[in-house]
Parts: sequence; structure tokens; C-alpha cells
Amino acid sequence: MQSDFVKPLLLWYNAAKRDLPWRHTDDPYAIYVSEIMLQQTRVEAVLGYYARFLDALPDPARLSVCPDDVLFKLWEGLGYYSRARHMKKTAQILMEEHGGRFPGTKNELLKLPGIGSYTASAIASIAFGEKTAAVDGNVLRVYARLQAFRDNILRDAVKKQVEAELTETMAVLPDAGDVSATGTHPAGDFNQAMIELGALVCLPRGEARCGSCPISRFCQAKVQGLVEELPLRLAPQKRREEKLTVFLIRDGDEVAIRKRPEKGLLSGLYEFPNTEGFLTAEEAVRFVEAEGFEALKVRKLRDARHLFTHVTWLMEGYEIRVSPGSVRRGDCLFVRPDELKRDYALPSAFSAYAELLINE
Ligand code: ADE
Repeated sequence: MQSDFVKPLLLWYNAAKRDLPWRHTDDPYAIYVSEIMLQQTRVEAVLGYYARFLDALPDPARLSVCPDDVLFKLWEGLGYYSRARHMKKTAQILMEEHGGRFPGTKNELLKLPGIGSYTASAIASIAFGEKTAAVDGNVLRVYARLQAFRDNILRDAVKKQVEAELTETMAVLPDAGDVSATGTHPAGDFNQAMIELGALVCLPRGEARCGSCPISRFCQAKVQGLVEELPLRLAPQKRREEKLTVFLIRDGDEVAIRKRPEKGLLSGLYEFPNTEGFLTAEEAVRFVEAEGFEALKVRKLRDARHLFTHVTWLMEGYEIRVSPGSVRRGDCLFVRPDELKRDYALPSAFSAYAELLINE
């Protein structure tokens, strides 16, 4: 992505940022405490807890031996108590393995309990100056609008892509050693500036304040009139489930296939004969006999599932050996497995059963 927006963004941040207590420290532990508290809690709600927590437990040594009752009392009202449990565990690991200090890289931070990609990047950039993008919901919104980015930000792969793009953009920042006039790292300032823009200006749900946005001239969503459309948050489709019984009807070394109807799902492709619902072995025999076959032997096959966009097929299967003399009704065609593979389009929904033929 273009990096022209970085400078005006940082200028704005330095002038307009909120005066938050964790912005007055370079202590990685204090920054860590703020980021964990901010994970599921609004800034206003965290303010009251942050100072009290650090007064009571000012370093990893004190936290590592804090009785759970005392810890949970300090946390009371913030919710998501697993965060507090993870913090104590993290403090113990720091005491045992890191001399009571936080490791200084995202990769090392990620190994600590309760620290995911966003939090690891936030701590690594704010406390240590690592140029790695901290991407939360606010930042995704700013990015999606800036780039008129139409991918679904609820997908993990999309979030990873945004992290990579923004991390690349951060290469234009001065290096970690060059702390700014305010004593902060450019990488941490950049991440907090993106968060701050999302929290104060680039707001969701019809509240975007493009008139006071320092980087609106770089904003593709603004140019294209898409500010309220973006970001795209498409919840995963809820798929309808359909149960099917699939038949491998075997005559010697051949197997029955048939053509699917010309309309609808997988139209015109081939399939193994199948029917709605899960059948017992007796019902399966009755089914193939109704198709004009004489069943000689029945064997239950593995279950399988296949995801289409709107439907999930849940499949059970039977292999049924039929006598060569069967009066074949219906529209089945008998082919050898190698012919099936070579000459007939069998959708991958049936792969689990086709593989049984190939591998036998
Ligand atoms: N939300 C998460 N991290 C934050 C930070 N460092 N400042 C403000 N809000 C935040």
C-alpha cells in the first residue's frame, strides 16, 4: 500500500491523542498490563483499574506470587477473568525463564499465555519499537476504508493479510533506536495512531468524521463513496445440512454411476446412486432391489461430509454387491474404477467413496 498517509497520521496523533496513563511509561510490564486490560474492555472502563493494579502489583515479581483472591479482587468488574489468570502465569514464566523481564520481540511474546498476534505486536512496538502492525477491529476499519478493501475482515486469512500489508508499510518509519521527542518509539506511535484514528475519527455505524480526518485525502473509500459500506463483515454462512446414503453398487469389477439432473446442484455431472436420509443395511438392500438389482452382499462404508456454499452433505455409505443377472432398471451405468476416473466427471463431494474404489 501507499505510505504517504503515515506522516500526516503521526502528526495528527501527536497533536490529538488522548492523554492516557499507559502513554506516559516505557515500562514493558505497565504497557503489557494496559494492553491486556484493553483486550475486551473500553478505554474509559480500564482507566480506573490500571493505576490501582500497578500500585498493588508494580512488577512481574509481585504479580507472580500474588494470591488468586487478591488478584481477582483487583480484577473484579473487568470481566474475562482468564486474562488475570494468564497474566499471573506469564509473570511466573518471566520470573523463571526471562529474569523477570519481558522478551523484546513479537515472536517471543507470542509464546506467553494470553498474548495473541494483536497484543504481541502492540507490546513489541510500543515498548520495544519493533515495526510490526497491531491489527484490531479499529485498525481493520481504518485500513479497509483507506484502501477501499472489500474482503471480509471477519476471516482470519484476511486479517493476516492486513497485518502483513501494514507491517510492510511500517518500514518507512524511523528505526527503533530513534525515539521521538516525546520519548516514544515510532512503531508504537504508528500503531496507537491507527487505533486512535479508529476510536476517535474513523468511527463505525454512520458516525465517521471524515471532515476532521487527517488522512481523508488518501482515503479510497471516501473517493468511491464507500465509507459506510466498509469494512465488510460477513458472518460465515450457516449451511443447511442434508443427510444422504451413498451406494457403491458393485458388479464384478464395475461400479454403478448415474447422471445428475440437468438442473440444480452439480447438474449434469455423474454421481454414485444415493438417496435422502440415513438408511439401515436392510433399508439399503431394499433400495437397490427397488432399482432392479439382486443384492448379494452388503458392507457398511465410512461416513463422509462435503461442504458446499449453502449446504453440507452428511453422507453414510454402503457397498452392495449385486448379481450379474440383475434386471437393471433406472438409469445406472456400470464402469470400471479406472474408466470412472478417466472419462466421467464425478464431483469431489463423492471423493471419499471414489477413493475406496481406487485404493482397494
Ligand atoms: N486499545 C488497545 N490498545 C490501546 C492503546 N494502546 N491505546 C488506546 N486504546 C487501545
